[in-house]
Amino acid sequence: MSTLGTQLPGVSFCPEAAGPRFGVLGSGKGSNFRALAEAWKSGTLGATPAIVLSDIETAGILPLGREFGIPSHFVPPGPFRTKMTPEAEEELVRLLREAKVDFVVLAGFMRVIKAPLLEAFPGRILNIHPSLLPAFRGLEAWRQALEAGAPEAGCTVHLVDAGVDTGKILGQSSVPVLAGDTAESLHARIQVAEHELYPRIVRKFAEGLKAEK
Ligand code: GAR
Repeated sequence: MSTLGTQLPGVSFCPEAAGPRFGVLGSGKGSNFRALAEAWKSGTLGATPAIVLSDIETAGILPLGREFGIPSHFVPPGPFRTKMTPEAEEELVRLLREAKVDFVVLAGFMRVIKAPLLEAFPGRILNIHPSLLPAFRGLEAWRQALEAGAPEAGCTVHLVDAGVDTGKILGQSSVPVLAGDTAESLHARIQVAEHELYPRIVRKFAEGLKAEK
């Protein structure tokens, strides 16, 4: 008999199924999603990834989602490079609602989030950005840090609002910039920090949602 979803005190339950449900949006290889999914599998995330969605048909995050047994779909973004059309965002919202998610996690999603999604999940969309915000908003933040000669770099988890990388900061982790760093070596060091930070902050956020109920 499946014990999925059973959380009664004193009754054994599947730790993977515990906690609020979240949807994941990503455009890339999905290493941050992997860190979250591994924490979920080990029963330490306190939240359940229910669906993975991507604006890029060939993004590595889609097969990775399926590897973890999570429904994973490509949603065509429309003709713009930096945002989805309102119709495409509405399709994201439809799929997220159908998957009964409580919150949304952006894991390398490279388009700006607009009204349909923001209004469907107000204060419930998290993003990870590869800089110590408010420094270096926007694209390739690690390269911006290197080119600016910053002594340290890092990553930030924040709530998503209508601006670009401007929402309330939930947590940060810093790494040094080393002599001889390239954009690639610095990004790799930041990603190690991301993979520790994101599961930690998602767990905290999920605890907050549970306390609200
Ligand atoms: C991560 O470094 C994330 O911080 C960055 O994209 C990478 C995705 O990697 N996101 C942004 O720059 C958003 N503005 P992943 O696909 O391996 O998780």
